[in-house]
Amino acid sequence: MARAASLLREGRLVAFPTETVYGLGADATNDRAVARIYAAKGRPSFNPLIVHGPSLEALRPMVQWDARAECVAEAFWPGPLTLVLPRTADCPVSALASAGLETLAIRVPSHPVARQLLAAAGRLIAAPSANRSNALSPTEAAHVVASLGEAVDAVLDGGPCVVGLESTVVDLSGAVPLLLREGGLAREALLEHLPDLRRPEAGSAIKSPGMLAKHYAPDCPMRLGAVDMRAGEALLAFGPDAPAAEIVLNLSETGDLVEAAANLFRHLHALNALAPVGIAVMPVPDVGLGRAINDRLRRAAA
Ligand code: TXA
Ligand code: MG
Repeated sequence: MARAASLLREGRLVAFPTETVYGLGADATNDRAVARIYAAKGRPSFNPLIVHGPSLEALRPMVQWDARAECVAEAFWPGPLTLVLPRTADCPVSALASAGLETLAIRVPSHPVARQLLAAAGRLIAAPSANRSNALSPTEAAHVVASLGEAVDAVLDGGPCVVGLESTVVDLSGAVPLLLREGGLAREALLEHLPDLRRPEAGSAIKSPGMLAKHYAPDCPMRLGAVDMRAGEALLAFGPDAPAAEIVLNLSETGDLVEAAANLFRHLHALNALAPVGIAVMPVPDVGLGRAINDRLRRAAA
């Protein structure tokens, strides 16, 4: 446990049991560590992650809390319920964990090993299910090892998961509570506390989590694959050979894709805040995490 906690604090990946499924955990406030999660899962795009905390009190400052959240959190935490709420302005959680969205998914797990890890690390832990992209969620430590192998730095073995099904995800960021994902907490139980709970409209039905993400897009046009600059543009650079530009942020001067992923949303927000005429984006190689980076860049440019 001590070793797992120090690995987490160093920005490494630790898989751990929760009551629902095993999670692939990283320090939620460390951009690079969160980027490593996506690299390990081999996700072709950045889907937002759930941030796990030791208590309601520890998570409350991360989001714009309200009476509905208070009510269901009181009733069901710790447990298999995830709440999606707007991030606070000074939320220290990596923007990559939210995949650039204005909202954050949070939950307090009940599994004793997860709770020990949260306490020992003293960090909030971002964790998707600990499997490679498009593989089944792991409910035993051996599943994690088989699916992720060397990509994970440590696995805490807490035996089989009791619930065995991912958490129920409820979006409380709008006027009407939305059931985004059925899961380990039954809908009937939720309805007692959220009588107006609805599924998302048929037209906006969420087939895969990635589709849910309202895509981050800056206020100005984005030009992908740029090799030179046009007047008034800001540059989102990649690698050592960036063209000269007045406003430039480099995703990774050494061309490291993990570092680039860690910087992506922060740099886009920062450039956008300067209100340039447009943002020129240098080409990013379409391999490994580069595929997810390019997916997000294309959506942001669309
Ligand atoms: O039981 C669970 O929830 C497990 C354990 C490890 O906690 N975690 C898990 O994570 O299933 P993952 O990444 O496999 O699924 C997270 C779900 C996805 O459907 C994702 O789209 C949704 O939560 N989600 C995360 N952040 C969101 C956000 N800001 N807005 C909407 N949906 C979000
Ligand atoms: Mg999953």
